[in-house]
Amino acid sequence: MLPDLDGLEACLHNKAGDVKLDARFRALFTLKGLASLSEDRKEQIIDIIGGGFDDDSALLKHEMAYVLGQIKDTYALGHLRRVLADEKEHAMVRHEAAEAMGAISSTEALPVLEKYLNDSDVSVRETCDLAIKKIQLDNSPEGQKEQILKEQRDKAHGDAIDAAARASAPIDPAPAIVDVKNAKDTDNVYSLEHVPEFRATFLDPELPLFDRYRAMFALRNTVQQGDNDAQIAAVDALVAGLKDQSALFRHEICFVFGELCHPASVAAMTKVLDDTNEHEMVRHEAAEALGGVLEDAENLENSQSEALRTLQRWATDSEAPRVVRESCVVALDEMAYNNDPTQFQPMDSIVA
Ligand SMILES: [Fe+2]
Ligand SMILES: [Fe+2]
Repeated sequence: MLPDLDGLEACLHNKAGDVKLDARFRALFTLKGLASLSEDRKEQIIDIIGGGFDDDSALLKHEMAYVLGQIKDTYALGHLRRVLADEKEHAMVRHEAAEAMGAISSTEALPVLEKYLNDSDVSVRETCDLAIKKIQLDNSPEGQKEQILKEQRDKAHGDAIDAAARASAPIDPAPAIVDVKNAKDTDNVYSLEHVPEFRATFLDPELPLFDRYRAMFALRNTVQQGDNDAQIAAVDALVAGLKDQSALFRHEICFVFGELCHPASVAAMTKVLDDTNEHEMVRHEAAEALGGVLEDAENLENSQSEALRTLQRWATDSEAPRVVRESCVVALDEMAYNNDPTQFQPMDSIVA
């Protein structure tokens, strides 16, 4: 039996004020899962999520915008446009709304994204620019050719990456580089020999952010698909990017580490979370990345115990920005929930 939408709506919107934030996140991700299973309830689900933007938690709202993008249906564009256009809304939520429009990838969204290319918030401006370039590429013959090449490669890797995992893979804000000149193995470009090229593009501040993002996701794919040496070199390149001057760029690196749950990222993510001079959006992603790695760890090593203490510290620090504090609280509550054998509904989806 499919879960009841009214119950999920009540949990997500929490009008009664008695639902914990991690439970509201689980309701949101259950709604996302249901939207992919039932075409006829998709619009109702989008309206339930879109009806939650009057909440006071920017963390939850940015996640709702993210989920609306991942559902990938133009029906959500009205909700997302409203969020982006609300200049009183938290910049992290508006950024996620613009990114979600990029994920949906309809040319219908171009005028509103173009309008906010001059927004007062730099992360919103940069995200609109990325989303516009993604939509243009996806809808061009060049982008479609790349898409076919990617599908052929995914098929060739059929054993390594199963079809279900591919279907539920998150939509990236910029597609990973697919075409590498002079590649020896055209079936797998995410290998050690290409890391220097990806790294050079990724770290070059003179290049457009969109190209650097494409290299970032190529490095992410290298960590997922390359051998041990390739993984180490790619993680090292990603960590080097944390010195970049764009907070948006740095937050996306932390998001990628959240996807990867790679133990080699723990020290860097702990440092980011602990840095009170760092942008709150970046620290939020670092907290979530740490939650993911610690969740996967069998026994905590030293650096992981320190990461846990850092999460605990910022979860209770009343001086911490609210999105940072709530990210730590949700990460810790999720770990406790997923380790509780009496629960049966682990949060299975990557969060934004
Ligand atoms: Fe984001
Ligand atoms: Fe996020």
